[in-house]
Amino acid sequence: MNKKISRDISRVLTGITTSGTPHLGNYVGSIRPSVRASLADDVQSFYFLADYHALIKIGDPARVQRSTLEIAASWLAAGVDPERVTFYRQSDIPEIPELTWLLTCVTGKGMLNRAHAYKASVDKNNAAGNDPDADVTAGLFMYPVLMAADILMFNAHKVPVGRDQIQHIEMARDIAQSFNYRYKNGDNDHFTLPEAEIEASVATLPGLDGRKMSKSYDNTIPLFASRAELKKLIASIVTDSRLPGEPKDIDGSALYQIYQAFASVDETRAMQKAYKIGISWGDAKQMLFERIDSEIAPMREKYELLMSDPAQIEAILLKGANKARQVGTPFMQSLRQAVGLRGLGGLQDIIKVDKKSVKSTLVSFKQYRETDGLFYFKLVDASANVLLQSRAFVTPKEAGVAIAKIKSQGIQQDDPSSVYLGTLTMAELNVINTALQQFVEN
Ligand code: TRP
Repeated sequence: MNKKISRDISRVLTGITTSGTPHLGNYVGSIRPSVRASLADDVQSFYFLADYHALIKIGDPARVQRSTLEIAASWLAAGVDPERVTFYRQSDIPEIPELTWLLTCVTGKGMLNRAHAYKASVDKNNAAGNDPDADVTAGLFMYPVLMAADILMFNAHKVPVGRDQIQHIEMARDIAQSFNYRYKNGDNDHFTLPEAEIEASVATLPGLDGRKMSKSYDNTIPLFASRAELKKLIASIVTDSRLPGEPKDIDGSALYQIYQAFASVDETRAMQKAYKIGISWGDAKQMLFERIDSEIAPMREKYELLMSDPAQIEAILLKGANKARQVGTPFMQSLRQAVGLRGLGGLQDIIKVDKKSVKSTLVSFKQYRETDGLFYFKLVDASANVLLQSRAFVTPKEAGVAIAKIKSQGIQQDDPSSVYLGTLTMAELNVINTALQQFVEN
């Protein structure tokens, strides 16, 4: 069985800025569809808490921490399975700010000038007659590059985001292309070009006042409000003044739209009928409350349990970061190599080899015979460090076949009995395979 990541698996990645408390709009628009998507067999999901991003907006450390806890607990309570999903906190991955710098150096400043979030601040300053960059941090300006690093670090194919984020995904593609072009790597691009994924079927949820549910309008219903609080908030959803018995209009009814986001097709149809025959607003609100609560209540219980045990959440996040870094650390190593942030140890060998005008290789295979009469090989880097020690082969030909296979296919985790001794971690495997890529090209 080949455990190597198959090409057909698509990697889906999304980040959640840790700047608030999740509300029903976040649940319907992001949490619920993400959890569902993560259950598919042909996807590999990376969901993370974008706490570096939170620093752009929030100067209150306690709020960043609190929001990190609440968002992590919410996603876990809503069904994110950390065994299935790589679920981590951005700031636990030091490779992300490191990659941000490499990307910064291939990003056009002019492109960043055109980023919506930055431009909106500048426009506001201009309109107020202030200096265009008044109160604009370099963090806000650099936001799209940090986001590109989040995405490119894991070579995500698809990035589910809201419409306001499409431009950032386009910039990430642009930055990836610049990097791929500048540091050309044979036929193997360093970065996959990501695509934004906009869930067309997920309508934006209206808030209490009928405008889009958003923290900035102060019209939200917290996802894990208590039953009593939920009931009270639902009672405050704006309606018109039609009396019980009078037919009601579903068009423009926030209450109806919220109901629809939680109800089945049949339930929605029944609600339409109820509107037509004049259900009272009180009864409609009661139905909405019951419907939402029946979906949320089991998660609320889990949420409260998780919130009472932050250490458990911390452990889950650290485990997730560990998993993410199994991919990120070796990948970053290969990127450092690509841009010329390289150790100098092997330089002499490379120069010597070049002089003899032999293929310059960063790694090479050494075949040899031991006193036991058996044949072995090892893969060594330019500083003679052994990257891989083979098992014994009875004939040199068998050893040669194993070498040829490694050259053409790389090493796979389930190869040991046929090729090498002991076990390799995923990270070691990645280092070797990255080195082999260089071998094959040189
Ligand atoms: N900027 C995104 C938002 O505000 C959050 C985010 C950060 C993100 N990094 C990401 C989303 C990477 C997708 C991919 O919604």
